[in-house]
Amino acid sequence: MANLTRRNFLAVAAAAAAMTLAGCAGEPEAEGAPQKDAPQGNEAGADAAPAGAGATLVAYFSATGNTAGIAQALVDHLGADAFRIEVAEPYTDDDLDYNDGGSRVGVERAEDGRPELAQVTPDGWGDYDTVLLGYPIWWGDAAGPAKTFAEGNDFDGKTVVPFCTSASSGIGRSGERLAELAGAGDWREGERFSAGAADEAANWADGLGL
Ligand SMILES: Cc1cc2nc3c(=O)[nH]c(=O)nc-3n(C[C@H](O)[C@H](O)[C@H](O)COP(=O)(O)O)c2cc1C
Repeated sequence: MANLTRRNFLAVAAAAAAMTLAGCAGEPEAEGAPQKDAPQGNEAGADAAPAGAGATLVAYFSATGNTAGIAQALVDHLGADAFRIEVAEPYTDDDLDYNDGGSRVGVERAEDGRPELAQVTPDGWGDYDTVLLGYPIWWGDAAGPAKTFAEGNDFDGKTVVPFCTSASSGIGRSGERLAELAGAGDWREGERFSAGAADEAANWADGLGL
């Protein structure tokens, strides 16, 4: 599980998709089902004003390292600060087993739970005008710890640009849902990256006008 490949995710997602398709309209799309047309790019920054003029923080959760790699590329490229969102009780490989409804993430998903974070608010939070918020896609949505982070911090006055990694799904509406949970801030359209797409991430960051 730690090294989740697109191939083994797809194998699992096929079963999950069957269940998802039985769901109601209005449910989050792509719950567990890979989107073959992913990534869903967006034009963040193309028509919008530059994201923010002040200090930039790259805040990210990463269970298996992929999002961390993109976050590091963004930090290096932008000269931004970094904050790793960590759960108070780190996930084990078994915890991350999306095949098992009784696994930790399976239960968290079923309960729409909010895993406790080791530190909710980054040091110097008030100094940042712009936050790039990174997370893996879990079942078509932002991973639970990103939701805890969004709910637990005050984004008033900040520009927030989501980014994510996934096996194949697009970013979908995950950024909008985080914005709803946060309840404040100027949330921009986000972007999805494949694992290791550091150059693509740097190019994307250039377009944000930071
Ligand atoms: C619980 C769980 C659910 C996942 N759901 C999806 C999904 O719906 N679509 C997808 O493309 N990938 C899915 N993945 C794969 C991850 O999004 C992908 O491996 C991501 O790059 C992991 O990022 P990380 O290494 O930063 O944790 C899932 C992985 C896990 C552990």
